[in-house]
Amino acid sequence: MPRAPGCPLDPAPGLAELQERAPLVRVRLWDGSTPWLVTRHAEQCALLGDRRVSADWTQPGYPFDSRFLQDHHEEARFLTAMEGPEHLRLRRMIARPFTPRRVGQLRPAVERIVDEHIDALLAGPQPADFVGEFALPIPCMVICHVLGVPYADHDFFQRAIRTLTSRDVPDDVASRSERALYRYLARLIGRKLEAPDDDLLSQLATERLATGELNRHELVMLVLFLLVSGHETTASMIALGTLALLLHPDQIAVLKGADGPGVAGAVDELLRYLTTVQPGRRRVAVADIEIAGQLIRAGEGLILPEEIGNRDENVFPGAGSLDLRRDAGEQLAFGFGVHKCTGQPLARLELQVVFGALFRRVPTLALAVGLGDLPFMDDGLGYGVKEMPVRW
Ligand code: HEM
Repeated sequence: MPRAPGCPLDPAPGLAELQERAPLVRVRLWDGSTPWLVTRHAEQCALLGDRRVSADWTQPGYPFDSRFLQDHHEEARFLTAMEGPEHLRLRRMIARPFTPRRVGQLRPAVERIVDEHIDALLAGPQPADFVGEFALPIPCMVICHVLGVPYADHDFFQRAIRTLTSRDVPDDVASRSERALYRYLARLIGRKLEAPDDDLLSQLATERLATGELNRHELVMLVLFLLVSGHETTASMIALGTLALLLHPDQIAVLKGADGPGVAGAVDELLRYLTTVQPGRRRVAVADIEIAGQLIRAGEGLILPEEIGNRDENVFPGAGSLDLRRDAGEQLAFGFGVHKCTGQPLARLELQVVFGALFRRVPTLALAVGLGDLPFMDDGLGYGVKEMPVRW
């Protein structure tokens, strides 16, 4: 569904109309199937937390968002598409670096990376591309550090990830990128086994692969998934969060003000307002479920777009306004239920450090082009902006 012209940070008006109409509506997908679209916050939480609802995309009726995914789902099973003991087992294996305590230990490194990027931005020519110079490299460096992937290879893997996750790329090109990334990570795992370091990839290779708890294919897929989910998501939030604040200068004042909500609350509100991981969680009912006066039958697909759940007036009055003073603790940008984002403490830390420093150190930051000239993208895993020329 297209967004309204001139409102690039608001969900498609078509979604808002559906939300007004009913909590659950039938929609038609690219393959002619007619899953349920769940429009409201309460029903999204209830269904994402319901054990009769599965994320397992091998279940009949799963609503794939493209033919490519449907054709490749057997070989490319990611954490988000698993359920039950298999999901829990892998989720536990990767949990260690994302606990609040371990993430807290990363704060000095994240602060240094953010400060260095602000220094470089200020020392460089104007206008500068905020995405390429700031929003993308920061989370990429952080996730490379956590996983143990060499940042020096970022040109290669960022391009491959972009191709792999884009819906606008021909299938054979996407497959080639996937294979190249796979081979790259498989070689890296070999190197970690020979010379382990203090990172998640070395830990998984030496503790889980060596003991047979994980096979090599599972490990490659796990790391590929972490690399993909670990940086573009956060990069989009840094870029779009900055844009949202530039478009609402009164909120920059709230962010900087001593009586404001604190940067953690501000980040929650930015996550709510922008909800960049789109277009919706995909699930399938594995038993009949009655909810909001409707019967969802076993085998029927569900789409749960949090971007409109996060704009539900019943939970967030005045939901269409960015209001950093709001308590947005119930926002769903990291998902809900057993698949809720594992990396959220890390993403929150990065966003808090960025938004705590950026407007303090660069108070004159401004867009160098009109809003209408920004190239937004919603062809991949999330919504974002490709380039954002800024000056200061
Ligand atoms: C602002 C940044 C981020 C946003 C908005 C975000 C959003 C999400 C969402 C919506 C889900 C739920 C998927 C589902 O239910 O199907 C998810 C899952 C996940 N995210 Fe994030 N994410 C972000 C950053 C990160 C980072 C930095 C990592 C670290 C590697 C990460 C790792 C994961 C993992 C491993 C899962 C799968 C959890 C599971 O299926 O059990 N994410 N994320």
